[in-house]
Amino acid sequence: MFAARRSLASASKRAFSTTPANLVKVAVLGAGGGIGQPLSLLLKLNPDVTELSLYDIRGAPGVAADIGHVNVNSVVKGYAAENLKDALAGAEIILIPAGVPRKPGMTRDDLFNTNASIVRDLAKAAAEVAPKALVGIISNPVNSTVPIWAEVFKKAGVYDAKRLFGVTTLDVVRASRFLSEIKGTDPKDTKVTVVGGHSGATIVPLLSQTELAKGVSGETYKTLVNRIQFGGDEVVKAKDGAGSATLSMAYAGSEFAAALMRAKKGETGVVIPTFVESPLFASEGVAFFSSNVELGPEGVAKIHPLGELSPEEQEYLKACLPDLKKNIEKGVSFVNQ
Ligand code: LMR
Repeated sequence: MFAARRSLASASKRAFSTTPANLVKVAVLGAGGGIGQPLSLLLKLNPDVTELSLYDIRGAPGVAADIGHVNVNSVVKGYAAENLKDALAGAEIILIPAGVPRKPGMTRDDLFNTNASIVRDLAKAAAEVAPKALVGIISNPVNSTVPIWAEVFKKAGVYDAKRLFGVTTLDVVRASRFLSEIKGTDPKDTKVTVVGGHSGATIVPLLSQTELAKGVSGETYKTLVNRIQFGGDEVVKAKDGAGSATLSMAYAGSEFAAALMRAKKGETGVVIPTFVESPLFASEGVAFFSSNVELGPEGVAKIHPLGELSPEEQEYLKACLPDLKKNIEKGVSFVNQ
């Protein structure tokens, strides 16, 4: 059994310990699940990760034992339900794919009732044991779970907006892939900025800012935007009751984590769209927004403005903001009710 049953006292003693600068301990909360398992494997393959801490209410010690046999030079430890604080102690990056996935016909918001309390409880533990970690939330509905995490941290007096991220990387991955399918290009050379939130109409791809998308217009443009906004539904439908995107989401999560780690190590110019507390639409009551964010060793270094938008993108943005505002408010009031 990998789950060392250390006492809570020993976890709190290590609570504020930091890993030496060249070592990165990453905790995955929800490591036994559909996203958590492949995400953990991809993190194991990242040479910047020196310790991988895998937690779930069930299955994490087994996943850790399995991944631990991969012959790359990092330590993997698995933690069972009662050892959450041990799993978090000393973590510098925490990734959270915990929670239930959608079934056909559901929106991400339909997951709120189950996933909101899961994320809230994980946040409470992290606020106590790893308040300085950089946190990437994958659990849906991301538009609400990120504000939930923020509120829990505010209540605990440890909130630092620079350290909290909603992972919207899959929208960027999809935009790149779907546009390259149309243009016959290699997705690795096809970068698309996607802003807003991570759900339906709140997902706004800024195709006008991508040279390769020039000339994509009319129905082709509309269909492409719709596919980027509802790519998650495509997978939910194809999985036919067995869940939502796990493998592509794990890939996207590991790419996001890799960006955090590169910035942590001091690489400059690491810019990625991510859902953060943002001034961009705060005056319209939208406190969190995904846009290009430059990452630094302490998390958010700079939030980039959106740049020039086409008339169509302005319309998509207009549709995004009220939905996003509602999703954010729902998360905030869940914690404060
Ligand atoms: C996705 O974008 O695929 C994920 O957010 C999962 C989902 O429910 O669609």
